Amino acid sequence: MINNCYLSGFSFHVPQQVMTNKDFEKLVDTTDEWITSRTGIHRRHIAANQSCSDLALQASLQALERSGINPRDLTHILLTTFTPDAYVPNAACILMEKLGVRGIPAMDVNAACTGFIYGIELARAICALHPDSMILLTASEVVTSRINLTDRSTAVLFGDGSGACVIAAKPFSNIPSSCYVTDVLLEADGSLGSLLTVNGGGSAHAMKLGQKVDHNFFVQMEGREVFKHAVRSMREISRKILHKNNLTIDDIDLFIPHQANMRIIESLSKKMQIHPDNIFINVQDYGNTSAASIPIALADAWEKGRISKGDLVMLVAFGGGFTWGAVLVQF
Ligand code: UT7
Repeated sequence: MINNCYLSGFSFHVPQQVMTNKDFEKLVDTTDEWITSRTGIHRRHIAANQSCSDLALQASLQALERSGINPRDLTHILLTTFTPDAYVPNAACILMEKLGVRGIPAMDVNAACTGFIYGIELARAICALHPDSMILLTASEVVTSRINLTDRSTAVLFGDGSGACVIAAKPFSNIPSSCYVTDVLLEADGSLGSLLTVNGGGSAHAMKLGQKVDHNFFVQMEGREVFKHAVRSMREISRKILHKNNLTIDDIDLFIPHQANMRIIESLSKKMQIHPDNIFINVQDYGNTSAASIPIALADAWEKGRISKGDLVMLVAFGGGFTWGAVLVQF
């Protein structure tokens, strides 16, 4: 089956409020030195009163504008998140209402930090089924709504934000930020799910009326174990997608990994022998924004002029589940 799929109009949005490492020194037993040396993170943006769909709206409007697409031309809305506005209605339906769109499918996709990569593959499948599709793919997270600010082992790691693009089976003419999806690989391993969880409120941990919120309602992570799996899984899937496409790492003009921890990125790039000039890193400014991490990095790289026409770019992510995946895009 011919599976043509093009992405266009990469955009991102982060809330105005910034929290620095110094700010965290006043909240928990930590230091700027520890956070910087163990994670590479200096600051992260925190949603004040904005929900997942509020952040999604900003990135989506810009992605549509950059692609020259009217919201009414959309055929599908996909929103990847693990921090939706509510369980019901889904955040994609809330977003569609904010965009003034009705009558098309709108659904949330949860693959934690790998959400955007999973979303690209879903969009590719929709394009194969419906060649006239015009899909909005947005990743949006208010991770801080599920962070226990008194838990120093997780509080300092995450930030809020959103990223979006428009996806179609046909090329976007005259849109510079447009690229062809060469290949996508997705994997997951549910046996490792307990290493990174937000259990509270799920049907296996159902709420009872009047029950107090406890630590189960917030991100809990076996950091060191997750670190090892993140490096191993992203390295393996990168190798697989390169091999499948008869490529080597030297063919990749820009490598954009999930932005969770500078040390994960450094370890991955060392093992894969990627030249530092060919890696995009912005974890220092945004922290780990989960599903929004990849589209924020992609749009940021584009805006900073790190991607040129003809470039082959690899996106690779890893997250809770565990889920992980890689995408090759040709500009
Ligand atoms: O997006 C999904 C994927 N997520 C990730 O990829 C995150 C993966 N994990 C990591 O990035 C790292 O494991 C962390 C940044 C979470 C932790 O770094 P680490 O080097 O693995 O530290 P650790 O968990 O082994 O903790 C070392 C020490 C501990 O103290 P003791 O037991 O040695 O006395 C922690 O209690 O650092 C302590 N610690 C802190 N100290 C100051 C943990 N958090 C903090 C903190 N400030 N914020």
